[in-house]
Amino acid sequence: MRGDLLRSEDVPRHVAVIMDGNGRWAERRGLSRIAGHREGLESVRAVVRAAGDLGIQYLTLYAFSLENWSRPQAEVAELMRLLDHYLDVELEEVMRNDIEVRTIGRLDRLPAALRERVEAGVARTRGNRAMTLVFALSYGGRAEIVDAARRLMRDAELGKIDPERLDEKTFAAYLYDPSIPDPDLLIRTGAESRVSNFLLWQIAYSEIYMTEVMWPDFRSEDLQRAILDYQRRERRFGMTSEQVRTGDCAPRRGGGARRAGGTG
Ligand code: IPE
Ligand code: IPE
Ligand code: MG
Repeated sequence: MRGDLLRSEDVPRHVAVIMDGNGRWAERRGLSRIAGHREGLESVRAVVRAAGDLGIQYLTLYAFSLENWSRPQAEVAELMRLLDHYLDVELEEVMRNDIEVRTIGRLDRLPAALRERVEAGVARTRGNRAMTLVFALSYGGRAEIVDAARRLMRDAELGKIDPERLDEKTFAAYLYDPSIPDPDLLIRTGAESRVSNFLLWQIAYSEIYMTEVMWPDFRSEDLQRAILDYQRRERRFGMTSEQVRTGDCAPRRGGGARRAGGTG
């Protein structure tokens, strides 16, 4: 990476991360999986700071999936405890850095006291402007689409929406937080090549970056490496390369097709 410079004018607006590999990181060191989650929290701190420094506007972190509820109860409890600890320790730092925190997911499955603390933390940061930090908690991509469909059907029953006129934009307005733009860059750590039920609707045209680096080892340099890789790509959104190069393509939501690389 050294020698290559990030172009600050072409930083992805929204980076979403599947933070995977905590357990394997720990097991390789003869430690408990819990130790891996603890070290993973250090990576969260580092990446939030780095994202702010780089001028990323939205950072979404997949912290706990709906499927993760099926893990051994002790591990689930420890993950909940770590979330609580993060809120306790990091909220001041988050406020100092003018970061707005939001959540997506089925929070009603969290223990009530924790849910209240999460919601209080979110409320405290409301209106902060430097960056939006989204935690996907008790989150599933299919569940999000089902939850959207449920609310949409209710509105249809009430006559607020005409099924004949339903389009993608209207549907997307029923997702958990429609004000968040689609991710430009999706990072998955931990050497797996799958999306594990993350942001299924929103990643339709995200650039995907996968790395062997386990999440507890992922730091600022790794984020920069991912962005550098993103900046070398050409985002075509179904157009031809020539259309992208000549700027002869229809505008679309979230910015038109363009060469992420800019040069060459
Ligand atoms: C990611 O690390 C953290 C969560 C899913 C909460 P894992 O715990 O999945 O670690 P591996 O994949 O088993 O190594
Ligand atoms: C994805 O990791 C979920 C989070 C990072 C929160 P998992 O470890 O749960 O994913 P799979 O089971 O390997 O697909
Ligand atoms: Mg995993």
